[in-house]
Amino acid sequence: MPERVLKLLRDSGPGQKEVPGPALSAALGITRSAVWKKIRRLQAGGYRILASKSGYRLMDGPELSAFELQSRLPGVKIVFRENASSTNDLALETAFREMTVPPPAAPEAPLPCLSALVLADCQTAGRGRLGRRWHSPPGVNVYMSAVLRPEIPPRRTPLLALAAGLASALAIKGQTGLEVRLKWPNDLIAPAKADGRCKKIGGILLEFRSDPDRVLLAVAGIGINANLKKTDLPKGMGTAATSILAETGRRVNRAALAAAVCKELDYWTGLLRKGTKAEAHLLKGYRSLCVTIGKRIRVQTEGESFTGTASGIDDDGRLVLTTGAGRLRFSTGEVQSVRSGDA
Ligand code: BTN
Repeated sequence: MPERVLKLLRDSGPGQKEVPGPALSAALGITRSAVWKKIRRLQAGGYRILASKSGYRLMDGPELSAFELQSRLPGVKIVFRENASSTNDLALETAFREMTVPPPAAPEAPLPCLSALVLADCQTAGRGRLGRRWHSPPGVNVYMSAVLRPEIPPRRTPLLALAAGLASALAIKGQTGLEVRLKWPNDLIAPAKADGRCKKIGGILLEFRSDPDRVLLAVAGIGINANLKKTDLPKGMGTAATSILAETGRRVNRAALAAAVCKELDYWTGLLRKGTKAEAHLLKGYRSLCVTIGKRIRVQTEGESFTGTASGIDDDGRLVLTTGAGRLRFSTGEVQSVRSGDA
């Protein structure tokens, strides 16, 4: 597998030291000519690898490629496209066409809850929640869809939404140090500025295929504004949206970020198979990052809207809204902050 050679070259030390051919063949248990073939495949895939008598040195290569992802996520099925209409559509198609309903991963698989990862550099028809478009220009952001087999009954899907939000927030924090927060159910929000405004840095679109008793397949579509410059946000989005680059002043490696999201996602969705104690850990993690709790909000559901105070997230992952008429619970909906006194 060329990605194993890539990983060894990339991990060889500061500035990517030269790695002797015999060291690569010994580490991978293959002949030197097999190593050379894999180097040639990497070179054909756009990697600049200097080959000399004393070894191989990785000079540079694409930031995003199937090799970049596979070398960070060994054993996970990866579908990478430069250009996709929507990675969620591709994930749903791929899951049904190629894998039908993907078989349960072996318990010893590296990421047992994650059946596949579909990632694109650019989307021509990126979809957001509630039928909105998702701005998906090339070369800057993360557009990924993780195919999961959560093995849960349909009524517990709100918990899966929380797991996807928490996983993404923690992965961003781990890769960049940025303290991302969550707006219920799973908008990724940059740390609030002095004016108290919360800007969105990413979002999650969860789609399911279920039979009456269990979720057969879940696709967690995750969009993260990574290296998008403030000036490249479309007109009108600048006040509501931001990016990791705009917040931290630093670029993030998108393959490393996507791989970190997958690992967190596998961990947190895996807890849903493990019973109530594990779920309590998920809920605690989610509640600690959720900015919606305690706020006066309006919840918009199909055709109706309700105003009150978000008093918590219940153990099924639903938003609890305390209103003059009592407590209401929501599995889904659109939340807006309202000023105290607004109806
Ligand atoms: C939202 O409205 O907040 C959810 C946005 C989800 C966008 C991601 S990008 C990758 C995946 N493919 C899509 O078409 N949408 C999701």
